[in-house]
Amino acid sequence: MTSTTTMITTTFLIFLFNSTTVNSAFFIPKTDVNLLEFPLNLEYFEAEYFLFGSMGKGLDTIEPSLAAGGPPPIGAKQANLSLHIKDIITQFGYQEVGHLRAIKKRVRGFPRPLLNLSAEAFGTVMNAAFGMPLSPPFDPYANDINYLISCYVIPYVGLTGYVGANPKLHSPVSRKLVAGLLGVESGQDAVIRSLLYERANKKVVPYKITVGKFTQKISQLRDKLGKDGLKDEGLKVPIKLGAEKKIQGNVLAGDEDSLAYGRTPQEILRIVYGTGDEKAPGGFYPKGGDGVIAKSYLRR
Ligand SMILES: *[C@@H]1O[C@H](CO)[C@@H](O)[C@H](O)[C@H]1NC(C)=O
Ligand SMILES: *[C@@H]1O[C@H](CO)[C@@H](O)[C@H](O)[C@H]1NC(C)=O
Repeated sequence: MTSTTTMITTTFLIFLFNSTTVNSAFFIPKTDVNLLEFPLNLEYFEAEYFLFGSMGKGLDTIEPSLAAGGPPPIGAKQANLSLHIKDIITQFGYQEVGHLRAIKKRVRGFPRPLLNLSAEAFGTVMNAAFGMPLSPPFDPYANDINYLISCYVIPYVGLTGYVGANPKLHSPVSRKLVAGLLGVESGQDAVIRSLLYERANKKVVPYKITVGKFTQKISQLRDKLGKDGLKDEGLKVPIKLGAEKKIQGNVLAGDEDSLAYGRTPQEILRIVYGTGDEKAPGGFYPKGGDGVIAKSYLRR
C-alpha cells in the first residue's frame, strides 16, 4: 500500500470514527439494534411501575414523548409507602426515564407496549410462585414490604438480560450503552435486595410467610418459567449456592464465581409473560412485547 493510500484510508477511518459521536445510531449494526431495543420492554415496565408507585403518575405526565403514544398502563397506582422508600423509588423512576431516553437516542425503538401493572397481575405471579392462591390476594401497592417484594419481581430480570446481551453485541457504542444500563440496574437490584434483606425474617402481613421465603419462591418461579437452569437466587440459599459455598446469606445473586447470571430474550419473555412460552403473551404484557425480537416469536 502506498503512503498516499494509507493516508487516505486513515483519514477516512478518522472521519468514520468522529462521525460516530455525531450520529452513533448509523454505526450500530442491525443485530445490535435488535438487542438494544429489546430491553425497552422492561425499561417501560420499570419506569411506569416506579413512577406510579412513588408519585401516582407515569410517563404520560413526566415525559410523554418517551411513551410515544403507547397505551397507558393498566392498574398502575401510587403505593402506600413510607417517606424513605418513596424517596428511593422516586429516584429509580427518574433513572428509568433516563434509561429509556438513552436507548431511544441510539435506536429508534418502539412506543410503550400495553402493560398490566394491576394488583391482580402481581397477585397472579405470587399465586404461581407459591403454587396456591394467597388469601387475601397479594397487593403490591399495600405497604413498603409488599411494594419492595413486587420490585424483586422484574428489575432483576432486566439485569440478567443486559448480562446476556453484552457478549452478543458487536459495536463498542452498543456495549458502552449496555454497560452503563447494567451498572445502574445492578445498583437498583442491590438496593432492593438490601432493603429486603434487612426485613428477611419479617412476616408479610397477613400471611405467615417471611420476606425471605417470598424471594425464594419468586426466584424459583423465574427459573422454572425461564427453562434454562439456575439463574436466580433468593435472599437465603443452601450453603452450596452461597458465595464460595461458605455462606447462606445471599444479599446478591451470583454464580459459583459470584458473577451475575445472564438470560436470553426468549427466557426473559417466558418469565415476564408468566407463561413459560415466548410465543404466548400474558402476565404483565397482555399483548406481548414489542420490537423485532419479541415480535418474531409472536408471529409464529
Ligand atoms: C390484568 O391482569 C389480571 C390478572 O391476571 C387480569 O385479571 C386482567 O384481566 C388483566 N387486564 C387486562 C386488560 O389484560
Ligand atoms: C399503609 O402502610 C402503613 C405502614 O406499613 C400501614 O400501617 C397502613 O395500614 C397502610 N395504609 C393502607 C391504607 O393500607
